Amino acid sequence: MNNAPTDTAATGITPEQSRVEQDLVDTVVASFDNTPDERLKQLMQSLTRHLHAFIREVRLTETEWNKAIEFLTAAGHITDDKRQEFILLSDVLGASMQTIAVNNQAYAGAATATEATVFGPFFTEHAPEIPHGGDIAGGAHGQPCWVEGTVTDTDGTPVPGARIEVWEADDDGFYDVQYTDGRVAGRAHLFSDADGNYAFWGLTPTPYPIPHDGPVGKMLESVGRSPVRASHLHFMVTAENLRTLVTHIFVDGDPQIEIGDSVFGVKDSLIKKFDQQPAGTPTPDGRDLGNQAWARTRFDIVLAPKDA
Ligand code: BEZ
Ligand code: FE
Repeated sequence: MNNAPTDTAATGITPEQSRVEQDLVDTVVASFDNTPDERLKQLMQSLTRHLHAFIREVRLTETEWNKAIEFLTAAGHITDDKRQEFILLSDVLGASMQTIAVNNQAYAGAATATEATVFGPFFTEHAPEIPHGGDIAGGAHGQPCWVEGTVTDTDGTPVPGARIEVWEADDDGFYDVQYTDGRVAGRAHLFSDADGNYAFWGLTPTPYPIPHDGPVGKMLESVGRSPVRASHLHFMVTAENLRTLVTHIFVDGDPQIEIGDSVFGVKDSLIKKFDQQPAGTPTPDGRDLGNQAWARTRFDIVLAPKDA
């Protein structure tokens, strides 16, 4: 790749200057020539070409480069085992969604595989197991929401025993891991039954901002972008010989879908109706919710073959 601007009159860059810049690109690219791992060599050489092309295209100033280093340093300092600023950065730049797009190409057999979306930083291992119809809330505040559906493959065959991990924020917009008291709430896992069916009680999702008290938040503010995510409920579904699905469902009618999701995660196929049920409406499992209104939604999950 040689993205060097060539028209001296338009750019003010002389052919000599352009040659100096291109020579440096070529030298750095060649420095990776002996990388034993071919894939690593490809990644490093391509990264070098794109990075230099960016610097040359925008005529990056030294002050700007120093600011970028300061930004990355701040991202490193705020990152720990609970807070991952680099994932946030990848998300708000759309890099997470682009990587997902590249690695989860649309697949359809008799049925179309459910689309994937961004993983986010709030999944944790070892969430409690709940039975069919169990409750993931664990004390998290929010409107109860009955979630049900099936897990099938793209031939339409039910998938029994699929492991379904679900996690979500409470109606204050926080995941359990954002509290300091060690609570486990708003997350669980369950398994699809012999017919591929699953059901659980969750919370009706509400919009919340991604953590924006760090460098990524400051960057969003500087460019006039909102940190708010469209309301969603996370799923990760794994089953033998099928492609693992990481996705969310979004709430039809949530104005944040139109305004824009801060991490570009919304896909039309993942927007689901969450039907509001007035207080007193009988629940699917006979649970007594007293004078509380509740909601219900359906999400049928279709898993692609493992190597599709
Ligand atoms: C989330 O949905 O949990 C999330 C995704 C990306 C960045 C921050 C949070
Ligand atoms: Fe989330």
